[in-house]
Amino acid sequence: MNHFLSIAELSPQQVGHLLQRAFFFKQSLQFPSYPQHTLANLFYENSTRTRISFELAAKHLAMQVVNLDLSTSSETKGEVIEDTVQTLAAMGVTLFVIRHAQDGLPQLVAQGLNEAVHVINAGDGQHAHPSQALLDLMTIVEKKPNLATLKIAIVGDIRHSRVANSLQFLFKLMHVGELVLVSPKQWQPETVHFGHVTAELSEGLQGADVIIGLRVQKERLAESEQFDLAHYRGRYALTQDAVRMAKPDAIIMHPGPINRGIEIDSELADGPQSVILTQARNGVFMRMAILESLITTS
Ligand code: CP
Repeated sequence: MNHFLSIAELSPQQVGHLLQRAFFFKQSLQFPSYPQHTLANLFYENSTRTRISFELAAKHLAMQVVNLDLSTSSETKGEVIEDTVQTLAAMGVTLFVIRHAQDGLPQLVAQGLNEAVHVINAGDGQHAHPSQALLDLMTIVEKKPNLATLKIAIVGDIRHSRVANSLQFLFKLMHVGELVLVSPKQWQPETVHFGHVTAELSEGLQGADVIIGLRVQKERLAESEQFDLAHYRGRYALTQDAVRMAKPDAIIMHPGPINRGIEIDSELADGPQSVILTQARNGVFMRMAILESLITTS
């Protein structure tokens, strides 16, 4: 693969290879060196997990890393992202990690670049967050390897979630047994790629092996929608009581950042079933696998 843009562009074999390399890095802590490569982080939306883990992944692979500070970059003078990327590529940057509010922007940027330069989608609008989906899959496989037997529930704002979108494609590709998308009516997706949709939390959690909570995007709600947070919490929050409906060994996941006491309670997020910090740790190894795959197979 020359760019890493969406799960829809991956084959099961490519996903299997990325998982195998990520687990190898995690278990062996033996990392190859690619000092001839330089990675640039271009984050037009805020991030903690994704930006830092791509930086750590690149440094583990002995790459150089530059973080573009957009508030002081020449984009404040009107330079467009395509020119920024071409300029940095001319200076020797070979990997661009891009997060942007516009759906499809990383794909647009990738067109017109020569094949020695690689674009990685670190989250575009409501479209895709493919590296998050892969690190989530790694975490699930680590805990519950038999994907075909699993019931997975994703709970929250499915309609606007790029994570839920990418997970649907990935779970379909990897033949997950059952996916339930739990969401109030106004957040149910217009298009479903895989799984079935319900407004009933109990339908999703009953007998579930994996529960994935999604963040309530308060900043978006404040601008655009009438939304009763207390009502949402009463019906959809992941609490100890609610999770009793799932299997006793169910794992609790969340891509982060979490809103404690809104979509998930602290006792659950910090409890023995939570693998939220495992997701964060696995993110570094999976992103190493993605970077390596781009520069060794293209
Ligand atoms: N999950 C995720 O994308 O987190 P960040 O916004 O902190 O990168």
